[in-house]
Amino acid sequence: MKASSRHGRLHPTWLPSWLPTWLTSWLCLALFLLAFLALEPSVTLSSALADDIKLPPPLTDGGPGIFTVLKKRSSAPGGDFSAAEVSLEELSTVLWAASGLNRSQTGWTVPMAEGLEPYVKIYVVGPNGVFLYQWADHSLSEISNKNIKAEISDQAFVRRAWYNLLFISDKEVTTKLEHGKGLADNYIQVLVGAMTQDVYLAAAALNLGARYIHSVKADVIKDALKIGPDDYPVALMMLGK
Ligand SMILES: Cc1cc2nc3c(=O)[nH]c(=O)nc-3n(C[C@H](O)[C@H](O)[C@H](O)COP(=O)(O)O)c2cc1C
Repeated sequence: MKASSRHGRLHPTWLPSWLPTWLTSWLCLALFLLAFLALEPSVTLSSALADDIKLPPPLTDGGPGIFTVLKKRSSAPGGDFSAAEVSLEELSTVLWAASGLNRSQTGWTVPMAEGLEPYVKIYVVGPNGVFLYQWADHSLSEISNKNIKAEISDQAFVRRAWYNLLFISDKEVTTKLEHGKGLADNYIQVLVGAMTQDVYLAAAALNLGARYIHSVKADVIKDALKIGPDDYPVALMMLGK
């Protein structure tokens, strides 16, 4: 930035010279603050204050094309996850891809048997606690403020991912099935397949690492999340950088 000397002080040449020095200083300070705010790093769960968190809008446009993403899809080796934070914007997009609304209030990114609402819930296990993804208003509800990443799988590397997404059955919803009454468990497994593939694809598009993990500690998770006796964790997805 060019500056000239006026009254013994630096005065930017792009501001009119008739402006008093005190006003010039205030204008510079205001511009500096604006630039600082514009460069502010992405919000993350660890910096969000509220217990329940309204997620920022997911990325629903742009990015690489579906075939480019399919060529990239792979499981990141468990030992490759770094300590780098996943932003709330990135998490928002991955959760939306996994089971967000994509048309009206009854259309989701993944297909649901008999058009029911999602009968698998996604819990986000992060460094600051456990949160339930609420697809209806794209928000997170706090379930616990404990970091349980190290307790939910026999595979120790799971704790390395910034987030672990837990996929938990919701049998209350499957009681609404009319034709597929005896198929609830099959439908739950199919849905987790669709959801986790969407997580893989969204992660590939965002240059995040993801890995499907089937070996989860059901008892620990049921206890920590206080889920009903009929429900169970199906799998988890590691999500990180
Ligand atoms: C049903 C299923 C269960 C899996 N369980 C585990 C697991 O418990 N632990 C693990 O590290 N990876 C697990 N994976 C990831 C696979 O090991 C991985 O997908 C496989 O090595 C192929 O690699 P790719 O996904 O990069 O193609 C599982 C994958 C699937 C589909």
